[in-house]
Amino acid sequence: MRTIRVGLGERAYDILIENGLLAAIGADLKQRAIAKRYVVVADSQVVELLGGRLMESLTAAGVAAEIITFPWGEASKHLATVAELASKLAQLGLDRKDALIALGGGVTGDITGFLAAIYMRGIPFVQIPTTLLAQVDSSVGGKTGVDIPEGKNLVGAFYQPRCVYIDSSVLMTLPSAELLNGLAEVIKYGVIYDAEFFRYLARQRQAILNRDLAVLEEVIARCCEIKAEVVAADEREADLRRILNFGHTLGHAVEAASSYALAHGLAVGLGMAAACRLAVGKGIFSQAQAEEVCRLLADYGLPTKIPAEFSPQQIKAFLKTDKKTVGGRPFFVLPTEIGKVVITDTVSEELLDEILGAG
Ligand SMILES: NC(=O)c1ccc[n+]([C@@H]2O[C@H](COP(=O)([O-])OP(=O)(O)OC[C@H]3O[C@@H](n4cnc5c(N)ncnc54)[C@H](O)[C@@H]3O)[C@@H](O)[C@H]2O)c1
Ligand SMILES: [Zn+2]
Repeated sequence: MRTIRVGLGERAYDILIENGLLAAIGADLKQRAIAKRYVVVADSQVVELLGGRLMESLTAAGVAAEIITFPWGEASKHLATVAELASKLAQLGLDRKDALIALGGGVTGDITGFLAAIYMRGIPFVQIPTTLLAQVDSSVGGKTGVDIPEGKNLVGAFYQPRCVYIDSSVLMTLPSAELLNGLAEVIKYGVIYDAEFFRYLARQRQAILNRDLAVLEEVIARCCEIKAEVVAADEREADLRRILNFGHTLGHAVEAASSYALAHGLAVGLGMAAACRLAVGKGIFSQAQAEEVCRLLADYGLPTKIPAEFSPQQIKAFLKTDKKTVGGRPFFVLPTEIGKVVITDTVSEELLDEILGAG
């Protein structure tokens, strides 16, 4: 078992990673004694796939728990779901000595974390991420929240879990498109933080796409280490944590322009490729390394060109409404070499037009 500590003082916690970990969670939770009783929150698909196995593990260890569910999908990530789940908790008589367990992807983690943050003004919660995206990104770092009609993730709280349990073997049932979503974030970590890891991803591409569990575990662990380091240095995204937005400035704009028909990972993929081109255009990144990044993205099956159906004007309009635009100026995370990035809000209109036009 690998243990990664997220060093956040009194809010510090462990990320535990192991193939087959699901069966051991009951015993570990019993020992940690976080709560006297747990409510597992899962979406309608994950409860069928993994709910039974988790409950077996909890019951075998003598951990009192029950499961509540909501319909799967991003469409559930809104305040009404939180309200419904809060009512269920109250009906079950859950109190401040009890805790929640988020079993599922990023949608479940974001909803459950937010519910834990506000139910009775805060009860503990534990993450069991079951998508690659959730295992390498959303389950670590304490961002929780839901969407409102005016925008994604506009209502939420910073609220850290007490523990994160990652079992890479649950990824075997994940649809390929969902795996790819997570892989875009995985490649992001290489480009922003770790050239060695970037090259590892190039070498191990086939094993990763074939879901070799030992390699996946290695990949997940490195991503969690990087995210843990970044979050420990800047929990509330005042500065360093913004590097995690690499590929997300233009990525989010294109995702929004597509009315979210384009998957997040694909949008981030082309956002990363565009950021590389912006960096080359600014003269801070070599053409050769930009091509290396784009090649890796393409080899994994991620797009590197913004589809022609989205005009530069349209993308720029969405850019203006993004959370990453402060005082009318969007910020970009741009690579200077593979493994290193800078944050800048000085991308000229001309350069942006050129990259979007060329996209
Ligand atoms: N909090 C953060 O820091 C953060 C970071 C990135 C993304 N997010 C959020 O995460 C969400 C996306 O997360 P996601 O991509 O995990 O989506 P998701 O939770 O909707 O999961 C994707 C799909 O996979 C299914 N699924 C989950 N685990 C499975 C498994 N093991 N086998 C088969 N199917 C499985 C789910 O039922 C769902 O249909 C977005 O709402 C995004 O805003 C949050
Ligand atoms: Zn993302």
